[in-house]
Amino acid sequence: MADQQSAPAGPDLSKGVSLSDFSGATLLGHVGDQDVVLVRAGADIFAIDAHCSHYHGPLAEGLVEGETIRCPWHHACFDVRTGEATHAPAFNPLGVWKVERDGERIFVREKRDQPKPRVKGPVDAPGRVVIIGGGAAGFAAAEMLRRQDYRGSVVMLSSETSPPVDRPNLSKDYLAGSAPEDWLPLRPDEFYADQGVDLKLKTAVSSIDPRARKVALAGGETIPYDRLLLATGAEPVRLPIPGADQPHVHLLRSLDDCRAIIASADGARRAVVIGASFIGLEVAATLRAREVEVHVVGLEQRPMERVLGAEMGDFVRSLHEARGVIFHLGDTVTDIEGKRARLKSGGVIEADVVVVGVGVKPRLSLAETAGLAIDRGVTVNAYLETSVPGIYAAGDIARWPDPHSRENIRVEHWVVAQRQGQAAARNMLGHRKPFDDVPFFWSQHYDVPINYVGHAEKWDEIAVEGSITAKDCLVRYISGGRVLAVASIYRDLAGLQAEVAMEREVA
Ligand SMILES: Cc1cc2nc3c(=O)[nH]c(=O)nc-3n(C[C@H](O)[C@H](O)[C@H](O)COP(=O)(O)OP(=O)(O)OC[C@H]3O[C@@H](n4cnc5c(N)ncnc54)[C@H](O)[C@@H]3O)c2cc1C
Ligand code: FES
Repeated sequence: MADQQSAPAGPDLSKGVSLSDFSGATLLGHVGDQDVVLVRAGADIFAIDAHCSHYHGPLAEGLVEGETIRCPWHHACFDVRTGEATHAPAFNPLGVWKVERDGERIFVREKRDQPKPRVKGPVDAPGRVVIIGGGAAGFAAAEMLRRQDYRGSVVMLSSETSPPVDRPNLSKDYLAGSAPEDWLPLRPDEFYADQGVDLKLKTAVSSIDPRARKVALAGGETIPYDRLLLATGAEPVRLPIPGADQPHVHLLRSLDDCRAIIASADGARRAVVIGASFIGLEVAATLRAREVEVHVVGLEQRPMERVLGAEMGDFVRSLHEARGVIFHLGDTVTDIEGKRARLKSGGVIEADVVVVGVGVKPRLSLAETAGLAIDRGVTVNAYLETSVPGIYAAGDIARWPDPHSRENIRVEHWVVAQRQGQAAARNMLGHRKPFDDVPFFWSQHYDVPINYVGHAEKWDEIAVEGSITAKDCLVRYISGGRVLAVASIYRDLAGLQAEVAMEREVA
C-alpha cells in the first residue's frame, strides 16, 4: 500500500507544467500535499487523484484507454472525466481536479465538486430486487443498483455474520496480522441503511419458488421478488478424513473462519496446510509472517502447475521454500489424531493448527431445487440471466458464455464476481448489456504479486518474456496460435495491454 505520508510526487502542478513536459499518457505531480495525475485522453487533458480508491495503486503507471484509466494492480477502471469507478474492484470515485490552460502551460490548483457518474438510469424498474448472497457479487450488485438510480426495494440476504468483507484479504494481510480489521468491510455498516439496502445477516435462504416469485428463509418467512440475483458463491471442500472436525482444523471462507485461524495460530509452533494451490499457499505465507513453522501437503507434484504451468509452479515453490515452508508434495493427510496429522507416505506431523484449502464447490442447491438449468454451475446467458426469466446468477456459481475463451466457463475470481454483480444489476434494470469482461485474478505470495488475465484451462505453448525467477515476466498461455491468458509479475502495464488486446479481439 502506498505511503500517504510520503513527500508529494513530481512537479507542483499548481505552478504549472508545459505541454512539452507532458509527452506520455500520464504525468504524476502534486497540488499541495496531494498527489494528482494528469491524463491525456485524445485532445483533452484531465487531472484526477493519483491513487486508486481500491488499495492506492499508482494510477500514473496504469493504462489510459479512451476516457478511462485502469489501475495497474487489480485492474479497476475509472472514468477520467467524472472520476467514477466504472469497473470493480474499486467502488469509490476518484477526486477530479480542474485543469486550466494558459497557452503552452497547464495548471491544476483546485478540486472540482465531485461530478455525477454517467448514469443511464433504469430502463425497466422492477418493484423489488432480492439478492441472495452477501459476498463479492451480491455487494457489487446492490451498490450498482443504487448507483444506477434504482429507487425500488433492494433486499440482500446473507448467511454470514458480518456485512460484505474484502474476502481476498482473509488469506493475505489480515490473516498475516499486517492489516487491521477495519480495512475489511467493503463499506461501513451504515452504508446499507443509508442506501436503502435491507441487509439481513445470519439469514439463510432455504428455497426459491420461481412460479410464485418468492424466496423462503430458513426461519419460515417468505420474501417476494420481481428480480432475483443468486450470488451464493462457493464453499470450501471438506476433507472426509478422521479428525477433520477438531477445533484446530480449519477451512477458510468467511471472516469468522479467518478469526478462528488467527486464534489457533496465536502461540502456535507448527501448522499443516493441506492443499498447495492459491488459498493454501497464501495461508502458508501469512503463517510464516506469524513465525509459525509451516508444512504444506499437496497431492500435486508442483504447486499451481495446473493453472500457471511448470516453471511458474517451480518458482512459487522456491519462493515459499526460501521463507522456510516445508513441502510434502504428491502426498496427502489420511487422518488427524489430536495434533498428529498422518501423511499417506507414512510420516506424522505434529501441528497446533491445520488449515484445509483443497478447493471449493459452488453452492448450487438453491438453483437445483428451483429447477434452474445447471451445468457444473448455474447456466446463465450473456446477460447473466438463468434459464428462468427474471432470475440472474453471478460470481462463483455462474457458468457464462465467455467470448474470449469461446467456452462456457465458471471461475472463482473476486474481480469477476464483482463485475458480474455489476453487470447483472444493470441488466436487471433493463440495460441488456452482455457480460464480456476479460477474466482477471491476482494472488500474493510475500512481496510477489501474480496477476492473471484471460482464461486457459489448457494450452499447447507457454511463452515467457523476461524472467520468472527474476520476478520480471509476462507469461503467455497459447493454444492454436491464440493467446488465451497472460500471467505477469511486476509487468503490470503489459498485463493491462494484454487485457485490452483480448477485449479488442472480440469487439
Ligand atoms: C480467503 C480467500 C481469498 C481469496 N483471494 C482471492 C484473490 O486474491 N483473488 C481472487 O481473484 N479471488 C480470491 N478469492 C476468491 C473470491 O473471494 C471469490 O471468487 C468471490 O468471493 C466470489 O464471490 P461470490 O459473490 O460469488 O461469492 P462469495 O463472496 O462467497 O459470497 C457468497 C455469499 O452467499 C451467501 N450465501 C450462500 N448461500 C446462502 C443461502 N442459502 N442463503 C443466504 N446466503 C447465502 C454466503 O454467506 C456469502 O455471503 C479468495 C477467496 C477466499 C475464500
Ligand atoms: S489498487 Fe487499484 S485496483 Fe486494486
